Amino acid sequence: MKALLAFEVFLCLTLCSARTARDQQQAPSGYDKYERPAASIEVGVGISVRNLEYVSTVDRKYKCQLLVRTTWIDERLAHTSKEEYLSYPVDQVWIPDVIFENELNPSQLRGALRDDSKIRVGRSGMVHLNQRVSAEFACPMDLQNFPYDIQKCPLIITSWTASLPQLQLMWNPQPVVVYKHAFSVSDFALRSFETENCTSTTPIGVYSCLQVNLTLKRMITPYVIRLYAPMIVCVVVASLSFWIQCSPVRIVVLMIDLLGAAAIEQVAAHTSTFGDYTTYIDIFSGVSIAFVLLSLLEFVVVQSIFKRELMSEKLHSMMNDIRSNGLDITCRIIMPLLYAFFVTAYFAVAFFLLDDEYPPS
Ligand SMILES: *[C@@H]1O[C@H](CO)[C@@H](O)[C@H](O)[C@H]1NC(C)=O
Ligand SMILES: *[C@@H]1O[C@H](CO)[C@@H](O)[C@H](O)[C@H]1NC(C)=O
Repeated sequence: MKALLAFEVFLCLTLCSARTARDQQQAPSGYDKYERPAASIEVGVGISVRNLEYVSTVDRKYKCQLLVRTTWIDERLAHTSKEEYLSYPVDQVWIPDVIFENELNPSQLRGALRDDSKIRVGRSGMVHLNQRVSAEFACPMDLQNFPYDIQKCPLIITSWTASLPQLQLMWNPQPVVVYKHAFSVSDFALRSFETENCTSTTPIGVYSCLQVNLTLKRMITPYVIRLYAPMIVCVVVASLSFWIQCSPVRIVVLMIDLLGAAAIEQVAAHTSTFGDYTTYIDIFSGVSIAFVLLSLLEFVVVQSIFKRELMSEKLHSMMNDIRSNGLDITCRIIMPLLYAFFVTAYFAVAFFLLDDEYPPS
């Protein structure tokens, strides 16, 4: 029984290795892999976005996994084989030298050729090359509206060595495919994407290129949890302090509240310091902290009124508390009202005005 099993394994291994050997073609004799298949060649490109790993707002870059499908016609490889496609190792045939123009690391697209990727050649000489790439790309960002921002992250593919009449890049009929769950882990949702042809002009020639802009909309939920909700709680606590009669308790509550608000602001600042301009999130934390500071200031004013009255009129402290509370009573109503007005106005502007600047396509 065991021997039979071993024999089967052996048989399978032999057959399988025989198959790979047969699949692997040698380029036809006289084939020069350094020679372009035609004086002017058109190279078709299609991209599948498999997974967006992250978008870094601080470093203005994003990382994603792509499947790049390249096709071109090399008539020298046309065949009349029984099988529809023959496959060749990539180091035996001519491969167009294309790179991602806005890639941050050394070219992954060329690096991907070094592993055991293969090309498949149809009977007419149509060559198909699929490459899986995981790379970081630069994405210029305008963060004025952060965290209600919408970013256009480009992906630019360009010919590296062959200039324009020699090599023309073209989008395949279905240029970009985005996998269903490609954006599930990131803080962004994909709104739309646009593709276009472009040319990149350098001192030594004009090169063909292709561009796709991924329009990404930032998810707001993490900022509600990390910043907006805690900040609102801080201001609510500061407003509640107007009801506290006992001075030591009130000063402790206000100080802790102020420290808490400053800490929350720091956490938000850590993820959102992008330069020397004010973002929407800075406005919110700034105004919220101002409200907590005002509550503290009000307490100082109430205390000094209390002290002065105590010295001049020499009344019992109970009486004085009640008198100097006039300011407290006003603040109990005015501060929450003002803050509620600010929060409502802020979110109204954020959700309606900013969103309407970019009609969904
Ligand atoms: C892609 O974005 C760039 C930079 O914002 C812009 O110049 C270009 O026209 C955009 N292309 C498309 C097809 O939207
Ligand atoms: C892109 O190039 C192809 C082939 O040259 C052409 O048919 C198509 O109209 C071009 N598209 C744009 C937007 O220029």
